[in-house]
Amino acid sequence: MDKEALKELLNDMSLEEKVMQLVQIPGSEYDSDAEITGIERGQAKDRVKRLAGSTLGIWGSRRLRKIQEEYMKEHPHHIPLMFMLDVIHGHKTVLPCPLGQGATFDPDAVRKGAALQAMEAAADGVHATFSPMADLCRDARWGRIMESTGEDKLLNSFMAAAMVEGYQGGDLKDPAHIDACVKHFAAYGAAEGGRDYNNTELSEHTLREYYLRAYGEAIKKDPAMVMTSFNSINGIPATGSTFLMKKILREEFGFKGVLISDWGAVGELINHGYAKDQKDAALKGMTAGVDIDMCSGCYSGYLEELVKEGAVSHEMLDEAVLRVLNMKNDLGLFEDPFRGLDKESAPVITKEGRLLAREAVAGSLVLLENKEKVLPLKNEKNAFIGPFADTKRLQSSWAFSGEDDNTVSVWEAALEVYGAENIRTAAGCTMFDQDAVTARGIRHLDNWQEENERLLREALETAEWADTVVLCIGEDSTQSGEATSKVSLQLPAVQLKLINEIKKTGKRIVTLIFTGRPLELKEVRELSDALMICWLPGTEGGHGVLDVISGKTSPSGRLPVSFPYTVGQEPLHYDAYPTGRPKPEKGPFEYTSRYLDCENGALYPFGYGLSYTSFEYYDAKLSAEELSANEAITASVRVRNSGNTKGSVTVQLYIRDVTGSRVRPVRELAGFKKISMDPGAEETVSFEIKEEMLRFWTAEEKWESEAGKFLVWICDSSVGGKPLEFSLR
Ligand code: GLC
Repeated sequence: MDKEALKELLNDMSLEEKVMQLVQIPGSEYDSDAEITGIERGQAKDRVKRLAGSTLGIWGSRRLRKIQEEYMKEHPHHIPLMFMLDVIHGHKTVLPCPLGQGATFDPDAVRKGAALQAMEAAADGVHATFSPMADLCRDARWGRIMESTGEDKLLNSFMAAAMVEGYQGGDLKDPAHIDACVKHFAAYGAAEGGRDYNNTELSEHTLREYYLRAYGEAIKKDPAMVMTSFNSINGIPATGSTFLMKKILREEFGFKGVLISDWGAVGELINHGYAKDQKDAALKGMTAGVDIDMCSGCYSGYLEELVKEGAVSHEMLDEAVLRVLNMKNDLGLFEDPFRGLDKESAPVITKEGRLLAREAVAGSLVLLENKEKVLPLKNEKNAFIGPFADTKRLQSSWAFSGEDDNTVSVWEAALEVYGAENIRTAAGCTMFDQDAVTARGIRHLDNWQEENERLLREALETAEWADTVVLCIGEDSTQSGEATSKVSLQLPAVQLKLINEIKKTGKRIVTLIFTGRPLELKEVRELSDALMICWLPGTEGGHGVLDVISGKTSPSGRLPVSFPYTVGQEPLHYDAYPTGRPKPEKGPFEYTSRYLDCENGALYPFGYGLSYTSFEYYDAKLSAEELSANEAITASVRVRNSGNTKGSVTVQLYIRDVTGSRVRPVRELAGFKKISMDPGAEETVSFEIKEEMLRFWTAEEKWESEAGKFLVWICDSSVGGKPLEFSLR
């Protein structure tokens, strides 16, 4: 529909119709088999169901077609209903969780993955996904770190932008693409205490320099929507914040799309103590510029009244409604309200999709230890032991449209590689300790003691038979994701007991950690001959893991987030400030910024990861020692694959602004390149350093660079390399 026609439609709509375009209700209002991802607020009135502009949490072309047919018949202007769904790392083919995708340091792979997700979801009638989550996360206690791509503003920027491009493609009228929604705006990952939904206290400069960056970069790719976050920032709930939603999002970022609240967040302005009742909450939501109220009932209950009273102007209402109509129009829904609903059957997982997912898994795995090169596994007696060895539950808590039955388990993949006569498996222990609290409630096992005694006996017999034990342990998928904050990053005691008992057998132990967050791995490190992070790898989890541990491909993931010695260090991030008393490399440490009982840094730092081969970095240099505004310096290094197998290396560029009008971090990621190299190959890897890369939020509250000395590292992690120096004139 052309813009004029859209305007005419808007002018022809009743006030009630306009208001209802700004209302989103749960899919359960249209079909009982819906995914409820928030606190349900009871049944919507019939008029709301008849006129609501969008719904979420349902998919499937046949049932959505039926819903759309009935809806269109009833709607006075036959404006199509929009179907939205959380497709955050897979619809049918479930990819590694986003934190695992961050570990690939491969935006191209992430873009292709998002395109696959969009194609499958669109074929199931979905019009929009609530992804990418661009929240910067420095706190492993916050369970939603699993849904992020980690702690670094540059890596998150590349990943969020790649996901928007993958979901939306070049043309939203192409039925293989869906709307993207950048969330959760803003700084949701900085919740105090790592406790979900908690307040965040951030200076404007920390907000701008770190937390806003990835949203901003993703918004440059024109996502259809942005979603508000649950948290308050410095005492103002994001969903009611005109500073965030008007000044930053609309004016500075130039966002023209639809701003949708998170589930119930408009109504939660009351709980925050920011609105006195639902009517006041509706007013505050509209004033902040929230276009769609997701499932709170405030807009459907009070917005019409607010407009009639003049508290909300007709112009403000029309602007919001026109953005929603434009979003539907950009998808071609007016011409084809049954877009994606013409399929008689659900999309199937294709060979190509599985291959893409398998490669994504392999590229996400981060090898942390490989003592005496115990990996790749020798083709001898290998025992796959642990609660993650023979389970298909390898996807995250945010992949509800994927089915576990489609997942290839580690054990199934091992059978394909080694054959049944050469390998054995045993559960070894239960996934949880006796009383585990998960996002889905308490899991209590009555016969937990006896069950684990039996499982342990079985596992030890299996270990005795084996030459090497592949120990598959970690954190269940129901313990990360929304509302899963924890004060402990320990593995379940029952799993630690298992690895200690297996250690006593003297067998080699290759430990695979399945998790949606950093965990405390100091004890596991001491007990393991090899240690690898597998994240929550999804549908092709088993194949991707076996491709790496069997040596078919070399591990190439790098940590997108710091793994601490202990939870007491959280929030933990590599790009910290030096302080006035930095702890020196070597003592004395008295009166320096340190812990008496722990290192300052990470057990495993951001950017770290091993390969089966080794890489030498040499001849690092800068093309000049001085940089001025309209020039560039080339930072280059020679990299050689000095081992005897092919491998991928992620060369990382870090910069430090030594002196500034504000304190500056000890180093910041300024670029990265992932390259595959044959044994013996060598090449020059170079990066351009430009003045705009050196800008920050100065003491004068301007986004500028400042003349002075800079240090540069071109290396293999956030703690690697030797600094080079240049000056900005
Ligand atoms: C949830 C989540 C958000 C999700 C939305 C819709 O509460 O916070 O990430 O997209 O509701 O399911």
